[in-house]
Formats: sequence, structure tokens, C-alpha cells
Amino acid sequence: MLSILVAYATGEGQTAAVADRVGAVVEARGHAVDVVDIGRESALAVDDYDAVIVGSSIHYGRHGKRVRRFVRDNREALTARPTAFFQLSLASAADTEEGVEEAAGYVEAFLEATDWHPDRIAQFGGALRYSKYGFLKRLMMRRIVGDDFPDVDPHGDTEFTDWAEVEAFANDVAAFAEGRVGVVPRPSTDDGP
Ligand SMILES: Cc1cc2nc3c(=O)[nH]c(=O)nc-3n(C[C@H](O)[C@H](O)[C@H](O)COP(=O)(O)O)c2cc1C
Repeated sequence: MLSILVAYATGEGQTAAVADRVGAVVEARGHAVDVVDIGRESALAVDDYDAVIVGSSIHYGRHGKRVRRFVRDNREALTARPTAFFQLSLASAADTEEGVEEAAGYVEAFLEATDWHPDRIAQFGGALRYSKYGFLKRLMMRRIVGDDFPDVDPHGDTEFTDWAEVEAFANDVAAFAEGRVGVVPRPSTDDGP
């Protein structure tokens, strides 16, 4: 059994939901998992974990300050163990060449700024939560969204996250960590030899 940290930063909760799903998938493989909001924990003991997964959304073209600081402050500990990074953005939801390039650019800028080299990286579509935005944020979001999502309800909530992709990522990261640390995942039934 491995101990795995899923540390995330979220604005309106979509990255938290993805982090929870990643944690559930990893836990189902028999590992001990802590899913933690970086913004609520002042000191996370990365050294206590066998592997670390970091998740963050994009707001105004950037990842949050807190997630950047978390990675910078713990870079040495992160480098010493299996790690993965996942990002949520609208750019990844657009399903266009420009969107793919934009989302990849956010990842590249983040990894360059933090000088971190995670073993696995995933980019997921995020969500639009017009029902949760205040007046100004709603205005800004309508401008950011522009004509990219003509079918989106400008007052309601729309989720673009592909949950099958999220689960595949979580399994891939867990399998990689198991291989690196030398752990056999728990069998799914008790009918072993
Ligand atoms: C104020 C605001 C600004 C955003 N800016 C961008 C952006 O510049 N590029 C982008 O691709 N997505 C942008 N998004 C989309 C978010 O990345 C997406 O809504 C994501 O699901 C947010 O996840 P969270 O709820 O965990 O913060 C923005 C969202 C908000 C609310």
C-alpha cells in the first residue's frame, strides 16, 4: 500500500471534484489517500507521502499563486518521488487546435516557473458556473468564452470534464507509482490462488 497525496487549488470547485475522483480511483487500488485543498492547509508534509498528485485550474491565463508556491517550496521533495500534475481550463474544453495549444502553453509556463518535472501530466476541460459567479466575474467569463461555446447557457452551469479521462489518468499515475515504489495493487476479489 502506498500513501498518496492529492493536493489541489480550486476557484469554484471543479478542480476539487476532479481531485476527489482521482483520490477515489487511487484509493480503490488499495492505497491510503489524502485529498487536500492547498489553500486551506498552511503546511503540507510532502515527505510523508510515497507519491504526490497536484491539480490546479486556470484563472485569467494563470495557475493560482498558492499552487505555484506549494510546488516551488516542495520542489526537492516532489523531485524525489513519483509525481503527476493535472490542469483544468476552458481552453481544454474548446476542442480546437488553438485550445490545445493554449492549454499546453499554460502547463509549459507553470512547469518552467516552478522548475518541476512531473512524471505524468493531464489536461482536462473545466466547467462554467455562471450560477456561482458574481456580476463582474460573469461579465469577464462571457468575454473570455466569447463565441467558443455557442451552445452554453449564459445563466446556467456547464461541465466539460471528461470523467473517463480523469479516471484513466488516476489509474495510470497509480500504476506508475506502484511500479516505481515496487507495490503490487490489491486484487479486486479475494479469490486469489
Ligand atoms: C474568473 C475566471 C477566469 C478564467 N480564465 C480562464 C483562462 O484564462 N483560460 C482558460 O482556459 N480557462 C479559464 N477559466 C476557466 C476555468 O479554468 C474553469 O472554469 C475551471 O473549471 C475552474 O476550475 P475551479 O472551479 O477548480 O477553479 C476561467 C474561469 C474563471 C471563473
